Amino acid sequence: MAKSATFTCTACGAVYAKWSGRCESCGAWNAIEEEAPLSSGPGRQALGARRGAGLTLSDLSDNEPPPARTASGMAEFDRVLGGGLVPASATLVGGDPGIGKSTILLQAAARLATRGLETIYVSGEEAAAQIRMRAARLGLADAPIRLAAATGLRDILTTLEAERPGLVVIDSIQTMWADTVDSAPGSVAQVRAAAHELTSFAKRRGAAVILVGHVTKDGQIAGPRVVEHMVDTVLYFEGERGHQFRILRSVKNRFGPADEIGVFEMTGRGLAEVANPSQLFLAGRGAPAAGSVVFAGIEGTRPVLVEFQALVAATPLAQPRRAVVGWDGARPAMVLAVLEARCGIPFAGLDVYLNVAGGLRIADPAADLAVAAALLSAREDTALPSDAVVFGEISLSGALRPVPQTENRLKEARKLGFSSAIVPSGGKAGGGRGMKLRDFGDLAALVGEVFGTG
Ligand code: TYD
Ligand code: MG
Repeated sequence: MAKSATFTCTACGAVYAKWSGRCESCGAWNAIEEEAPLSSGPGRQALGARRGAGLTLSDLSDNEPPPARTASGMAEFDRVLGGGLVPASATLVGGDPGIGKSTILLQAAARLATRGLETIYVSGEEAAAQIRMRAARLGLADAPIRLAAATGLRDILTTLEAERPGLVVIDSIQTMWADTVDSAPGSVAQVRAAAHELTSFAKRRGAAVILVGHVTKDGQIAGPRVVEHMVDTVLYFEGERGHQFRILRSVKNRFGPADEIGVFEMTGRGLAEVANPSQLFLAGRGAPAAGSVVFAGIEGTRPVLVEFQALVAATPLAQPRRAVVGWDGARPAMVLAVLEARCGIPFAGLDVYLNVAGGLRIADPAADLAVAAALLSAREDTALPSDAVVFGEISLSGALRPVPQTENRLKEARKLGFSSAIVPSGGKAGGGRGMKLRDFGDLAALVGEVFGTG
């Protein structure tokens, strides 16, 4: 029976039997593309029909030393990778176009090349002269990187096989083109084939391969989502265009912790490391204001302080607005529901806006309590003391749950000059020496004591 084509969403990778305008899985419009079936026919035998070469099997207890990592010396970059770049690995660096992927990779590659990693940088987007200009602007003109502007995968692989570099940067995977695949560059089939060839090269020759992938929110460009499961490490480079902060976040890492972040600042001479992100995120905070709450969070393995800002305003709309920037979309609704149902504080008829200052995206569930405090503070028009930080998880019953790493959160807060904290009861508060702790078992108690309502 002839195999029919399948249809794949370029934004999320969902597979369908027929085309449709909207992906049911991720909601993206016009992102579904046809993929040609793998050829089959009389020339091909069923896998079981003809013998293949036998595999060499090994024990679990092979006492091989762990792979030697190469650190770039950019501490923020190395931490996100789990300590440095691992040989024979494939890393995807995704992000919006123009966010700074080429810039950070040129900077990191220059450092790694200087530290002895034979480096080849292949750009399918820019001419060599353009990359040289960027390098000059970044002060990296003397870095021992070898450049090529190319998109043909066959030529690129031939060069890589001959040169055997330790590090290869491919900028970007969407521009690569395999002549074995019958579709346009940037299509799912091409992106997938190119990623497969390049990761195979990494494994075969022990090279570290970094693939750049553009992601757009509307999924118009074949998303690196289809590549994510093929590579060892997936990093996303995030940030708001208008802000100078950039966050490199590991969302998958076979060689280190996931959810680690590195913080950078975009300057006129490229990306500068930010060693103390809390200081940066809290910079510009003025006098105590209603709706502003400092959250002591953990991002990856380290504590980060950020400011949550809430605005609550009467609305003529039947369906009040709930706008959230920088936090998980569904959680604010849960916090609002708990405030209404367990503390008797209605938000009906009120627009609610919530924002994380500085453009950071928070993933820590301990932000619940900071968000609740910001919402209450905005609604009651009462500022929290400016020396206080807040953190804790809220359960649907309204109970407050202690969160991991209480000590580290308190330590970071104290380091930045805060002297009190609003926390759930029962947390291990060892690091909080010198901090005045106000702990609460449930949200209603906090509402009564801190805001005198409920
Ligand atoms: P780029 O690395 O080209 O983005 P991407 O590869 O993710 O598409 O970065 C583009 C932006 O960065 C561009 O708007 C200019 C800015 N930029 C600086 O602000 N300073 C610099 O030193 C460099 C090289 C770029
Ligand atoms: Mg680029």
